[in-house]
Amino acid sequence: MPSRDSGVNMGRNDEQIAFWNGPAGERWVTAQADLDHMIRPLGLAAIEAAQVRAGERVLDIGCGCGDTTLALALRVAPGGTVTGMDVSEPMIARARARAPDLAFQVADASTATAPEVDVLYSRFGVMFFADPVAAFAHLRRALAPSGRLAFVCWRELAANLWASLPLQAANRVLGPGDPTPPGEPGPFAFADRRKLLGTLESAGFSSIDIRPLDLAVPCCEAGDDETLRAAFARIGPAARRLAEAPPDLRERAIGEIVAEMRTRVGPNGVALPAACWIVTARR
Ligand SMILES: C[S@@+](CC[C@H](N)C(=O)[O-])C[C@H]1O[C@@H](n2cnc3c(N)ncnc32)[C@H](O)[C@@H]1O
Repeated sequence: MPSRDSGVNMGRNDEQIAFWNGPAGERWVTAQADLDHMIRPLGLAAIEAAQVRAGERVLDIGCGCGDTTLALALRVAPGGTVTGMDVSEPMIARARARAPDLAFQVADASTATAPEVDVLYSRFGVMFFADPVAAFAHLRRALAPSGRLAFVCWRELAANLWASLPLQAANRVLGPGDPTPPGEPGPFAFADRRKLLGTLESAGFSSIDIRPLDLAVPCCEAGDDETLRAAFARIGPAARRLAEAPPDLRERAIGEIVAEMRTRVGPNGVALPAACWIVTARR
């Protein structure tokens, strides 16, 4: 859990804050290099959409281990600033270790006081708010009058094979279940385009553009069982199901995931379809 003197106010996002300060945050820190490799192209697409320029001020919302904060810092140089904000103490600790010269804040972006910025940016860090309209309305107030928003989030689970295949495999052992239902705070909260549009409109944004991005993402670069286990049992809905399963069933479910993923190994490991929204808007 966050320490008493952290910038995180326990409130409506308690469950997610506990989640990202617990085993999920630890899993992301452990797998940081592989996860960054996997989702970097998706984050870069949102940076392109934001048209971030030298001299601008950017807030990286839910910056995690800081990969995009580093990329944004290169874009805003010279003269610009980037602040990375996240509720997860272990992930921010990793970010600070990677980029000691950048500014990071352990804080709940839905309520924290943020510096005025030209760009609100996020790579998969804005889908976890208990009250998304209130959170985005709050974040919007940090934007300069001509400021803009740009982020990447997941579309529906079924189109994201990197997540749905391991979940289906785990469910063959654990029984049916989806710990990350669409519309709930979690990775697929914004799967429904109309709901996402309504959320941003209600929060006061204008010129909202939501367009699909489909890419095969590199999940792992080898095909041995150990690599497959590490790659597919640590993130997404399958990881959440595994974390809640009794140990004997968990091992069987991981075995089923590895067996499924063996069938997907190509010459360069496993790459699987990812389906996202690239979202931009103006203050
Ligand atoms: C899927 S991870 C993505 C991390 C990072 N953006 C990346 O792409 O590597 C989601 C991140 O959002 C953060 N997060 C969730 N709720 C948040 C909130 N209310 N305020 C700030 N960060 C939050 C989590 O701690 C986690 O680091």
